[in-house]
Amino acid sequence: HSVGIGRAHAKAILLGEHAVVYGAPALALPIPQLTATASAGWSSRGRDAQGELSFTMTGSASRTVVTQASEGLRRLTAAFKARMGITGGPHLDVILDGAVPPGRGLGSSAANSRAIILALADLFGRELSESAAFELVQTAENVTHGRASGVDAMTVGASAPLLFRQGRARPLGIGCEALFIIADSGTAGSTKEAVERLRHSFEREAGARERFLGRATELVGRSRLALADGEAEEVGSQLTHYHELLRAAGLSTARIDAMVAAALAAGSLGAKITGGGLGGCVLALTRPEQARQVTAQLHEAGAVQTWVVPLRRQSGHA
Ligand code: PMV
Repeated sequence: HSVGIGRAHAKAILLGEHAVVYGAPALALPIPQLTATASAGWSSRGRDAQGELSFTMTGSASRTVVTQASEGLRRLTAAFKARMGITGGPHLDVILDGAVPPGRGLGSSAANSRAIILALADLFGRELSESAAFELVQTAENVTHGRASGVDAMTVGASAPLLFRQGRARPLGIGCEALFIIADSGTAGSTKEAVERLRHSFEREAGARERFLGRATELVGRSRLALADGEAEEVGSQLTHYHELLRAAGLSTARIDAMVAAALAAGSLGAKITGGGLGGCVLALTRPEQARQVTAQLHEAGAVQTWVVPLRRQSGHA
């Protein structure tokens, strides 16, 4: 091919963010309607000061056009070439339409990385196994996030909600139909900063880490069973408890707290911040009958955009 194309979608973490960095399980949801698209081609410009790669980012999620390859992207391309045994070669031109808003806990960095390596694989006419794609995305994630659990890298390539634990994913059993409303607070948060902040607080206070991980694991376990049994209310209350856990750890914001309260007051079964935190999005579990009201109240409380991701019945693996 003269142009390689790759796509990957956003994700939301239902439960288990931050604890998953320490090996605890997490539940995650693909967001198919938010997709990053990358195209890769041979540059006519030849080598320039940027080295072997020129990069342009455009699209709805980046109001300004970014033209510099980040450190993560340079490492990603180098890791791809090393893995494929490609040495040297012509200058690459990568264009990314990043439709996933950054810093919103929606896995934009993982979705962008996955779209780019799939585009490169397509351009070079190479097969990329799922495990190779995962590892390559993780290479970039570890640069961007400091220390990434892998839940984002896994979920941006998944087609159904999953249970993630220590680098492995399995489909989540789901026994009810409901909607997740994802509402953007309009403020970006830094996952790297949030992960570091939590680590420092664990270092300062004896037993804090064990308490946090114990509670997180308990809430994830309960909601996993409740989801499989179709007990949507029970899932909702675990989501709200998890919000409390993250808020107490200093990872929420005033606007996010107001949005969570508004969703609950409007009849949502449960609501929480999702992803790295310090900004980003709220995730609210809602019966279809309440969806309109919950969405309206989320906007009233400051949401700048919302997405609806339906939850479908599926059988999981024990
Ligand atoms: O903010 P996001 O979409 O990058 O999600 C990060 C999830 C964390 O658990 C906070 C970090 C990780 O590596 O799992």
